[in-house]
Amino acid sequence: MNGRVIGIIAIKGGVGKTTTVSNLAASLANDFGKKVLVVDANFTAPNLGIHLGIVNPQYTLHDVLASKVDVPKAIQKHELGFDIIAGSLVPKCKIDPFSLKRKINHLRYKYDVILIDSSPTLNEEMLATMIAADELLVVSSPDYPTLSCTMRAVKVAKMKKTPITGIVLNRVRGKKYELTLDDIEQSVDVPVVSIIPEDEMVLEALSLTKPAVMHAPGRNVSVEYKKLAGCLIGEQYKDTRLWPKIRNFFVVDDIKKDDVNRTIAKK
Ligand SMILES: Nc1ncnc2c1ncn2[C@@H]1O[C@H](COP(=O)(O)OP(=O)(O)O)[C@@H](O)[C@H]1O
Ligand SMILES: [Mg+2]
Repeated sequence: MNGRVIGIIAIKGGVGKTTTVSNLAASLANDFGKKVLVVDANFTAPNLGIHLGIVNPQYTLHDVLASKVDVPKAIQKHELGFDIIAGSLVPKCKIDPFSLKRKINHLRYKYDVILIDSSPTLNEEMLATMIAADELLVVSSPDYPTLSCTMRAVKVAKMKKTPITGIVLNRVRGKKYELTLDDIEQSVDVPVVSIIPEDEMVLEALSLTKPAVMHAPGRNVSVEYKKLAGCLIGEQYKDTRLWPKIRNFFVVDDIKKDDVNRTIAKK
């Protein structure tokens, strides 16, 4: 196995980085049978563990990056079929963020995909993710303040020469006042590979510490995450729901740009 390391970034909190990581991990493991590791590299405010129901891990990424324990000790098996290295909510030791790449590099032989959840702040925490990753997904939402942060994130990633697979446009309500896929693509010159709708179910799933793809697998938001998961490993997720099939039968010429972008991005 020679797993790919994918960093999920945004220079903004609350856009959906952690939600994206947990949903992609659950889908890659359960829909595609892949071996997946998620790593919480939001060192200052780690909450990937909380999203996934892990509150007080015995060993954390902080212990690893402080060279207190070896990586395998900090890896936990999650009941949803993937592994996780959580962060410490009350870190007690000084860490070396830039050792992240070295510490996780040798885990590639064990996993198909390693997903890194990153810090929202453009500092050494986020740079550590950019350096450790083979490729990046930049999470954004369809409003100007977030777009300005996305433009900055893309610029820094390009400077660091970490390839960007695409933009994940999250929390889309389909309103006229929102920025469109074309607006975003023209501004950042990176393809939008996923459009994830805003859905209260995501918050309901969070309250149950479950990824949306497991809590409500047939909801649009879940299916979009599954399509993105497939794209990351060069496979196509087949939407087996009845309604989209009926719709596709009647609506000709309904080619979506994000579908096209995913096909192009598929390795
Ligand atoms: N598509 C969505 N629809 C509704 N709520 C969402 C969606 N994506 C994320 N959220 C919610 O937004 C909040 C912030 O998401 P999170 O993934 O923690 O963001 P980040 O990691 O970028 O700070 C969480 O409460 C999450 O459940
Ligand atoms: Mg987060």
